[in-house]
Amino acid sequence: MSDQVKLIRKDLKKLKPAPNLLDYEKVYKEFTWEKAEEELIDFFDDGKLNISYNCIDRHAKGKNKDKVAFLFEGARGEKETYSFGDLKTLTDKFANVLVNQGVTKGDRVFLFLPSIPERYVAFFGTLKTGAIAGTLFAAFQEIALRDRLADSEAKVVITNAVLYPRIEKIRKDLPHLEKVIIVERGSIEQPRGAGLVFYNKEMEKSSSEFEIVHMDKDEYSYMLYTSGTTGKPKGVMHVHGDVLQAMVTTKYVLDLHEDDIYWCTADLGWVTGVVYAALGPWGLGVTQVLFEGRFSPENWYTVLQNYKVTVWYSAPTAIRLLMGSPVSPKNYDLSSLRFLASVGEPLNPEAIWWALEKFGLPFHDTWWQTEQGAITIPNYAVMDIKPGSMGKPLPGIVAAIIDDEGHELGDEQEGNLALLASSVSSMMKAIWKNEEKYNSYFMGKWYISGDRAMRDKDGYYWFIGRADDVINTSGERVGPFEVESALVEYPDVVEAGVIGKPDMVRGEIIKAFVVVKEGVAQTDELKEKLQQHVKKHLAGHAYPREIEFIDKLPKTRSGKIMRRILKAKELGLPIGDTSTLEDY
Ligand code: WT7
Repeated sequence: MSDQVKLIRKDLKKLKPAPNLLDYEKVYKEFTWEKAEEELIDFFDDGKLNISYNCIDRHAKGKNKDKVAFLFEGARGEKETYSFGDLKTLTDKFANVLVNQGVTKGDRVFLFLPSIPERYVAFFGTLKTGAIAGTLFAAFQEIALRDRLADSEAKVVITNAVLYPRIEKIRKDLPHLEKVIIVERGSIEQPRGAGLVFYNKEMEKSSSEFEIVHMDKDEYSYMLYTSGTTGKPKGVMHVHGDVLQAMVTTKYVLDLHEDDIYWCTADLGWVTGVVYAALGPWGLGVTQVLFEGRFSPENWYTVLQNYKVTVWYSAPTAIRLLMGSPVSPKNYDLSSLRFLASVGEPLNPEAIWWALEKFGLPFHDTWWQTEQGAITIPNYAVMDIKPGSMGKPLPGIVAAIIDDEGHELGDEQEGNLALLASSVSSMMKAIWKNEEKYNSYFMGKWYISGDRAMRDKDGYYWFIGRADDVINTSGERVGPFEVESALVEYPDVVEAGVIGKPDMVRGEIIKAFVVVKEGVAQTDELKEKLQQHVKKHLAGHAYPREIEFIDKLPKTRSGKIMRRILKAKELGLPIGDTSTLEDY
């Protein structure tokens, strides 16, 4: 396929300012993590570090004290500006709030908030104490919350009055949860109850000087739950040293320069939000935009225009929704834009051609995963783009296509996309309380991504698909097992099998095959009820957009649902090897 693609050629003379990465081949050859660390990271005198020091305090202590860190626009149109100096004071105060509540190094502190500045204050304040910050997506409902807060044994949750009722419902199942901190911004009436602490009051009381905790490079910083094919979501553990690859990629891939106004549209509840709307840009001391409002073409183009955004990092589903909208970007002044990038799911070539026509700029696809902690295979400002390709490995990183036995395959051969584990500086250090799962990611020296891909003869990597049943809907990873479990909780349901079905806009949608109890009418009304059930109890984004009633699910003799057969049937593909299939 790669022979036929039309290249998007880059002309170095036209790129202004000159990209941070000027010569990919040369830098790839000469790069070492040690040199990058020396250039980008500040350590304390004892050789330790803290992400929050690197992202906030060092800027606040230097010439960037008054530089804008955050341009915030709230859901109700309120506008606020925060300097690095402001953030230093606020995060120091918040660290004191936590310590006053009994938080110590290694405790888990979870953030369950919308996209408001307090979420960032809480995140970096938590890291200052040496506690582990966990972020949650505001669309999560009680099942998703219980799975994460119970498994992590979270001691503190920071939330608001709107979201708190979901925590209240499951509080009895969370014996380790001692304190809930309520952020009052734009509040409705405040909840009352034991163990509730109020953000504003505590912030007012606490000192604005905090002695930041010094951490080893491989001591935990943040954790994020991610879905696999089986079982509950797993806690992926990242460390303070991860800020290095976050910064290297923000510099070399997103190409941020000092004067950029940067907007990453990802939510802090997912890894892209943590790494590219927090660690990377602030590590480099760059100004970013935070927009709490909902997605709509008008809203987004207005943000890009009004804040004069220069670098924009977004996702394929959003781009495809913009493409499909009658609202044209040409009605806005987007002349400040100079670099566009995308992550989360395959970026179709049409989206790149569309951007080239509408913005005069292509999107640069980037590939990575929660487990990897930062971008690993991207396109670069300076490098020609082959639309449809994820790009080439980051300097420092060795990628390969391997077969199921761990042997490297040659160019143009499909196989498992793997990374040399030791070459990924920000690679997860553990799966929380699950060593077996952690070990299952590695085969000898290789980290196995779970994606299938191939490399062409020019060294570009091409995504082919997932090697497992994990669903990617609108760039969000959903485990079929979680959706199946939520469905079978509904009284009329006997069992359910869930797959990802290809979709033009969302990449995939969730489709459920449901077996109902005898005598239960298989109506559209029931489908609707099942959808509402999943939305209400698991998460707003993880419900099946399509439901089909079925008499029996295909299973292996040991009783495992064979989702691959459901998928083959759905797509009208050959069913393949069914030797392990129970009578069907
Ligand atoms: C999975 C990781 C890391 C950012 C957000 C998603 C898919 C991610 C791409 C891309 C094709 C992609 C893969 C991967 N994916 N980026 N550029 N092209 N697929 O993180 O939730 O950990 O999901 O998303 O299947 O394994 P995540």
